[in-house]
This record gives sequence, C-alpha cells and structure tokens, in this order.
Amino acid sequence: MTFEHISSYGAGTPSISNIRVVTSPEAMASYRVEGRTLPVGSIVIKEEYADPTCSTIIGWTVMRKEPAGYDASHGDWHWQRVRASDRQVLEDGRVTRCISCHDTPACTSRDWQCTQM
Ligand code: HEC
Repeated sequence: MTFEHISSYGAGTPSISNIRVVTSPEAMASYRVEGRTLPVGSIVIKEEYADPTCSTIIGWTVMRKEPAGYDASHGDWHWQRVRASDRQVLEDGRVTRCISCHDTPACTSRDWQCTQM
C-alpha cells in the first residue's frame, strides 16, 4: 500500500518533537474535511523520529477505521503503538490512553484526528 503524506512537525510541537503523519489514499480525501468520517479500512500512521530530519525512527502510532460497532462511542477506531527497534506491539485495540487524549472537540470534530494543518 502506498501512503500519502499529510503533515510533518519539527521541534516544539504538541505531543512529540519530530513526526510525520501519513495515511492510506482512501482516507486522504476525507482527512482534511471537518466533520467528515473516514471510510472503513482507513489507516492513519504517525511516525515518530528521534531527530528533526526524520531519519531515525522510534516507533509508530496507528489508527485503523473498523466496521461500525467496533467501538461506536469512540469513532470505531482501532489504536496501536509499535516500537521500531524490535517491531513489538506495545498497545493494541480500544486503548483508553489513546482515546482519552484524542477525545477533545478539536479532534473528534475531525473523526478523532488531532494533527494540526
Ligand atoms: C498526550 C496525548 C495523546 C495521546 C496519549 C495519544 N495521542 Fe495520538 N495524537 C495526539 C496529538 C496532539 C496528535 C497530533 C499530532 C501531534 O501533535 O503529535 C496525535 C496524532 C495521532 C495520529 C495521527 C493522526 C491524527 O491526526 O490524529 C495517530 C495515528 C495517533 N495520534 C495515534 C495514537 C495512538 C495509537 C495512541 C495510543 C497508543 C495515541 N495516539 C495517543 C495526542 C495524543
């Protein structure tokens, strides 16, 4: 699958210093539109890097849109965090820690996407 680039942040950004956000193509059309729900199967990935040139990867956080009913009160998103060094899945599923932070009007109004554009 080819991913499309949404956004990159340098140092001093909201959650972690150096990130790139990419998404599957079918998600891209909906991603930027306030109030639009991303299609089932959409994958949004935040790549977290150790350095501002985005050359040393630390890990990934991922959101995948599941069929309706997976987690209806939280946008039916499946959350996952993967450590880059050994590809270990550190968090997976309906992860409260992820949900609680993305559960703000600025994010939920864009189908739980928090990236500033
Ligand atoms: C401390 C608050 C916080 C927590 C906890 C958190 N996020 Fe986020 N997330 C953000 C913010 C803020 C952004 C916007 C990009 C940025 O500033 O890093 C974001 C962006 C993302 C993105 C890029 C898509 C988008 O625009 O929202 C994904 C994917 C993501 N987070 C997944 C996760 C997963 C999976 C977890 C749990 C393992 C998680 N997040 C936990 C705050 C959080």
